[in-house]
Order: sequence, then C-alpha cells, then structure tokens
Amino acid sequence: MAGQQSSILIGYLTEVRGDGMEARIAEEHLGDLPLINIDGEDMLAGQIGSYTVIRQNHISVLALIFKTWGEDRFDAEGQRYTDRFIALIPVGEIQESGAFLRGVRHYPTPGAKVYAVGLEEINAIFSKFREYNFFIGQLASHKDYHLSLDLRALFGRYFAIVGQSGAGKSWTVTSLIQNTIKAMPKAHIIMLDLHGEYCWKDKLGNIQSAFPDDMVQYVDAMEMEMPYWMMTYAELVGLFIDREDKGATLQMSFMREVLQQLKRKEAKQIGLASVSIDTPIYFPLAEMYMQFKNANEERKDFGKSVGALFGQFDEFLIRMQSRFNDVRYDFLLKPKHRNHSASMADLLRQFIGLGEKKANITVIDLSSVPTDVRPAVSAQVGRLAYEFNYWNPSRRDFPITLICEEAHAYIPREKGGQFEGTKKMMERIAKEGRKYGVSIGVVSQRPMELSETMLAQCGSFICLRTSNPDDQAYIKGLVPEAEGDLTDILSSLGRGEALVLGEAAPLPTRVQIYRPNPEPKSNDVDYYGGWRLGPDDLNVEEIVNLWRTQTRKLISISSSIIINCTGSLVVTISANFLINRAVTINNAKLPQCCLPLMCAS
Ligand SMILES: Nc1ncnc2c1ncn2[C@@H]1O[C@H](COP(=O)(O)OP(=O)(O)OP(=O)(O)O)[C@@H](O)[C@H]1O
Ligand SMILES: [Mg+2]
Repeated sequence: MAGQQSSILIGYLTEVRGDGMEARIAEEHLGDLPLINIDGEDMLAGQIGSYTVIRQNHISVLALIFKTWGEDRFDAEGQRYTDRFIALIPVGEIQESGAFLRGVRHYPTPGAKVYAVGLEEINAIFSKFREYNFFIGQLASHKDYHLSLDLRALFGRYFAIVGQSGAGKSWTVTSLIQNTIKAMPKAHIIMLDLHGEYCWKDKLGNIQSAFPDDMVQYVDAMEMEMPYWMMTYAELVGLFIDREDKGATLQMSFMREVLQQLKRKEAKQIGLASVSIDTPIYFPLAEMYMQFKNANEERKDFGKSVGALFGQFDEFLIRMQSRFNDVRYDFLLKPKHRNHSASMADLLRQFIGLGEKKANITVIDLSSVPTDVRPAVSAQVGRLAYEFNYWNPSRRDFPITLICEEAHAYIPREKGGQFEGTKKMMERIAKEGRKYGVSIGVVSQRPMELSETMLAQCGSFICLRTSNPDDQAYIKGLVPEAEGDLTDILSSLGRGEALVLGEAAPLPTRVQIYRPNPEPKSNDVDYYGGWRLGPDDLNVEEIVNLWRTQTRKLISISSSIIINCTGSLVVTISANFLINRAVTINNAKLPQCCLPLMCAS
C-alpha cells in the first residue's frame, strides 16, 4: 500500500477524540459537485460511507465517513460562506509496510491531513479477507469492489443478522448460505425456518428450495419425531410439572425415581452398563403414568388405610393427560417410528444431514407447528445439535452452525414463561457451543426482545435497515465501542443493504448484499396485484376447517408470480387469477411453468 498512497487531499482534522474525529473539507472541494477521481473512479469528496486516510508524520489512520454537514460563516462584508465538515470513525492503522491493523493506537492531532482512499488502497486492506473467497456483496462506496468475509470469524464465533421487517434479512441469510456452500462444500448448517421461506412444497407436493437440490434436506418439524425419551429429566419436569404447584417437589422426586427405575430396566435390555437419569434411552411413557396413578390410588389393609402418596398426584395426572391428549405434542409424546432406543442414531443421521440423502443444509420447517409449541421444537433442535457434537469425537472437523430465524420469538429476553427451556438451551450453546463446534446465527427484527446472553456472544453483526431509534440505540450498545457511532447509518440503508460490523469484516463496511439466486419465498404480498386482480370469492369453509385442524396448507405459488418476459420487463400476475379465470396476456411470452396453470383454468 505504501507505494499506492492516495494523494487527493480532501480536508484537515479539526477535532480528535478517543472514539471519533472531525475534519473540515478543503476549500477546493466546497463546490456543489465536489468530484474527485481516484484510480479512474469518480467519487464525491467527503461522501458518507467512503474511506479516508489521515496521515501525519509516521501515523496513518484509516477512517470511515459517517456524517457530513455544513456550517455558515460571514465575512466582514456580510458575504456568506459555507464550510463543510465530516465526522470520521477511525477503524485501524496502516503500517509502513502497508499492512492493516484493526484498532487505533496512535492518534493524529488536529490539523493533520485527510486523504480520500481509492480502490487500490482498499484492495490492500481487504486482501487478507479476499483469500477466503467468500464474497457477500459490493461496497456501497466502491461498486466494483466485492466484500469477502472471514469465514472463520463469522461461523467460529456467532453472528447476528438484524434489521426491521422487510429490510432483507431472509434474503441475506439465503445469499450468505448460497455463498457458504460454494466456498465450503462440506458445510453443515441446520436452519430453523419459521415461515417455510427456504424450502416449500409446490402444487404437486415436490419440495422446492432456495438451495441446490443435492445439498439441502427438507424436514417438516411436525413429521420429524423428536421423542420424549430423548429429553433430559429437567425438560420432562418442565413439560409435565407445574413448578408453581405446591406438590411440585414431591412430583419431581417421584418422577426421578420412576425414571431411574424404567431406564435401568431398558439399559439392561440393550446391554448398557451404566445409566443416568438423563441417558437418552427409551422408556414407556404409559408406564410412567401408571406408576404415578398407582401411587396416587394406593390403598392398604384391604382398603382400610391409604398409601403415603395417596392423592398427591392428582394435578400431575391431569396435566400429563392433557399434554398427552394435545395433538400438537404428538411429535414428542406419541412417536410412531422412534419408539425404541435403537432409532436414535437414525434420527441424528437425518437431522444432521447424514441420512440416506447426504445434505449440507437441513431446513427444519416450523411453519406448520402451532406457535406455542415452536419453542419446545426449537429447544429440541438446539439440544440435538449441541449434544451431537458434544459427544462427537470428530467435532473439530465437523462443526455445525444453527441458524435461528425470527429468534426473538423463541429465545426472548424476558425471564420465565414458556420459553425458558429453549432460552436456556440456546444460551447454553451460545456460552459453550464454540468449544464443541456448534455455533449459532441469530436472525431477528427485534434485537431488543432477543436474549441478551445470545447477542453478547455474537462477534459479527450484519445490520440491515433499522429505523426504530430504540433498536438503533440497542445495536449501538452491542457492537464494538468505536463502531457504535456508525449505527446512525442504519436508518438510511436501502433494501438488502447492510452495515457489517465486528470480526468477520476487515473494517466496518456498508455493503449491498448480493441478490440470492434462487430467491427464498419471502416476497412481499402484492397488494396492487391482489386488490385489482385477486379472487372474487374464497373457500371460507376450508379456512375454518384448516384453522380447526391446525393445518397450514402450503401454497404452491405465493399470491403473485413474477413472469420475466423480456429480461427487464417484469409483469406480475396473481396466481389465483390465473387459476380461476381464463386470461389472455398480450405480447407476454409465458415461461413453461405457467402453462399447466393456464390450461387448468
Ligand atoms: N439483497 C437484496 N437485493 C435486492 N432486493 C432485496 C435484497 N434483500 C431484500 N430485498 C427485497 O426486500 C424484500 C424483503 O426481504 P426479506 O424477506 O429478506 O425481508 P426480511 O427482513 O426477512 O423481512 P421479515 O422480517 O418480515 O421476515 C425482498 O422480497 C426483496 O424484494
Ligand atoms: Mg424474513
């Protein structure tokens, strides 16, 4: 870099603080179009999002412009002049060898010269990261420049993708994963997909996905059995015992005893030498219920006296019955296939992508799971991932990343409540998972509602547009101190545009994330199309029935399909409209996939 130094002076430092600097723009760039040309590229001097280098003696500090403003002054004749200023965030030092070091140890003084930075210089700074070949998008300040992240830092410590609804989180996740599997074909990713955006079924029941067919595995959470007998004692207590109940302690100790006895019996049968209360082996739930029931009804001396536990378990038995009768818990309590200890390896294989179909990405679709059961499913998924690698002797060569979409919905900040189990599990992964090769990527539109422990462990942040001041302030508090001021930019980001902060990027960087290809099924609902061409009537009886049976029917095509007719011209037509009526579209060459729909109408 030493040989490539930019010589375009744009200003002089006026203020230097530990966490930021300000500079006055040089007079020659005060016009209404302060164009400068660096390495053949036209730029505006002092543009937000662009980089500068401050040089003074041996000091060379790289800084990012995050704010710019003007101040009027008048001369003796009353003539008005406007000075322009920029606020800078120092991001690192450029050493004499040209190497870039994050963080600033040597500060310049006011009066130091501020130079614009060109592509060549950026290239030198980002060169180490380019080796990873993990490009995620183009720099906002240099469209020709593509940003590569440090994969080790991104997946090795956790990351968070935050931004308001519609900012582009799901697209960013898709784009990121599509590039991850290109850069690392042996990646192991498990995704908790809350809305069925990453995999979905088409009209014919075939699975469509935003990821290559041979690399992805779709798992419908309702069909995947995660049997109760794999749960820990504490989880079973959470499921069947109300801790507020005055008899809770007695219920818990009796359950411990019964479990131990049932598991010892099973261990003997499968030839397991020792067994603990948490050993994941089969035990019959009905047997546990019966033991509680018998103790609750025990009578002695031909009915003259009652047992010590007589009547103690009424609440427990009712609670257990009601859980058992709740069809939403069938995936847990009534396993049809996984009802013997040997079925566990098979479950893990399927789950981790080592089943019949080897897959890098396992998408667990939670869209059909009722909302209040989602935390229970998520906790089990998190736990399986954690335990799998905890016990996996090859964990160092087989790291797993768990991506939690809409994480605030089941890893909330608030204490207590039904989410406590998932929260504890996910926080445990966050605290200890790194050692065992299990990392987490949280995706959330409400970082303030997300567990603090979870976010505190994140080393990298991909922040998309966030206009809520409270959320902005919260994000500011999360990111490394000197980068906090940058969060002011968050409200000005466009769709799919992100501020990447933390360890994975060489510098805090404003970047336009690549469009994923194919896209996830998270497109906005097309109000314009729907309200003009939508259906005249709906099958309300079906809706009532689906609601009652808690069945969410997968829609084959989102409410609109986009037909790309001429490459640039995009016509949007309501799918229902195509199905319900015969339509003629003049001059539009419809792709093959639309033809069956047309014929069906
Ligand atoms: N990188 C991108 N390039 C171009 N357009 C994008 C990009 N990312 C997102 N968009 C646009 O923004 C829309 C919303 O994106 P997305 O579904 O990812 O939002 P989201 O943040 O996940 O929203 P929600 O919180 O509601 O799930 C997309 O349908 C797309 O039109
Ligand atoms: Mg989304």
